[in-house]
Amino acid sequence: MSDIAKLQIGENTYEFPLIQGTEKETAIDIASLRGATGGVVTIDPGFKNTGSCQSAITFLDGEKGILRYRGYSIEELAEKADFLEVAYLLIFGELPTKEQLDKFYNDILDNAIVDDDIKKIIDAFPKNAHPMGVLSSLTSALTAFNPSSVNVDSEEDMYNAIVKIMGKFPVLVAWTMRKQKGLPLHYGSRKLGYVENIMKMMFEKPNEEYEINPIIKDAIDKLLILHADHEQNCSTSTVRVVGSSHAGLFASLSAGISALWGPLHGGANQAVLEMLEAIKEDGGDTKKYMGKAKDKEDPFRLMGFGHRVYKNFDPRAKIIKVAADEVLDDLGIQDPILDIAKGLEQEALNDEYFVKRKLYPNVDFYSGIIYRALGIPVEMFTVMFALGRLPGWISQWREMRLRKEPIGRPRQVYTGENYRPFVKINKR
Ligand code: CMC
Repeated sequence: MSDIAKLQIGENTYEFPLIQGTEKETAIDIASLRGATGGVVTIDPGFKNTGSCQSAITFLDGEKGILRYRGYSIEELAEKADFLEVAYLLIFGELPTKEQLDKFYNDILDNAIVDDDIKKIIDAFPKNAHPMGVLSSLTSALTAFNPSSVNVDSEEDMYNAIVKIMGKFPVLVAWTMRKQKGLPLHYGSRKLGYVENIMKMMFEKPNEEYEINPIIKDAIDKLLILHADHEQNCSTSTVRVVGSSHAGLFASLSAGISALWGPLHGGANQAVLEMLEAIKEDGGDTKKYMGKAKDKEDPFRLMGFGHRVYKNFDPRAKIIKVAADEVLDDLGIQDPILDIAKGLEQEALNDEYFVKRKLYPNVDFYSGIIYRALGIPVEMFTVMFALGRLPGWISQWREMRLRKEPIGRPRQVYTGENYRPFVKINKR
């Protein structure tokens, strides 16, 4: 294949270099397009065909259902690694040695204390505030309490901001949930691992010793790993674009959390469970809801189905489906919602509408069933996604800074009024 793309506009032909990734993905480098053509831009709503950056973090092949972090397959990582190792891998590029991981975790623990005044901010939220809104605000507020975290010009500054947020974010997550439940806010224990400590901070009751259930620990580890990165999705692109203005890490992450909140993105895990509950309440008639999903006049969508990039099984959904069975089995829980989900999946996989559009279950379809079995309230599901995605956002933000990417600033094609003279208010 030639390494040049040619574009003809009227009489003129322009040449652009092709760029190839390590997995043989090809892109047309149009950086010189506007200059060469005297102002022509491309337009691509939803960025369906647009690569926003070159990245060495996550590879995904939506046709083949492949997902890898730094070259390691998601299946192997979910099976053999723990979440903190994966976080290190994503952020720094290699699996850590024991010493590297210990140092990373100690630095995180040394920075895990959150200014006590943050509790006053939490107190000011209504108890029924959505935790994603609370978390986004608190993450942004952290900058006010840690002003030096906006200095991220050196690797050392970045490292300091990274260990701070890796330490403080789980505290904010736990406090957000505990506040809603009316439970006292605390810090867990330095003696526990990263995930065990998150569990203790979230679930410990004030009047009993918290015991780590290894089944729940493994399930949370796996879920966090599966959510840890997914290349240039909506929230990650948001983090990179906000960070490209040289806004600090916490402000960039706060924007990412807001982007994740939407039901077409991370908010889908909450929406899936609410949908499955509604179907159950409605007598379990899955056919009726399949019909609604296919009806173009009906805004209803089968939540947890379809993906911008996967046109085959989402590999994460495959792992989570098996995990849902195992966790419910291990915990001795029978959840009719799981049967409804499996029924819907079977119908969709055999339905022409879904087959033709290549709509398969995505990561959010079964995750909520596990979260529910673990005793996590439904409004916290997307927060769990954010907890998992944190190292992915950090690694993408760090990569963007290290590569000295320019400020993200797309073009547009203006379709408004042409020039018209101002009319005074008494003449309108
Ligand atoms: N139920 C019914 N029809 C659907 C669905 C669905 N869940 N998803 C896509 N379609 C149809 C859509 O109506 C369109 O049909 P047509 O070609 O006749 O107009 C076609 O499939 C293509 O859909 P699209 O909206 O153009 O695809 P997209 O790539 O812009 O959107 C998506 C991808 C994930 C937003 C979409 O599939 C969706 O809304 N799914 C439900 C929400 C969801 O589960 N989101 C989680 C995504 S995975 C985790 C994450 O990213 O955070």
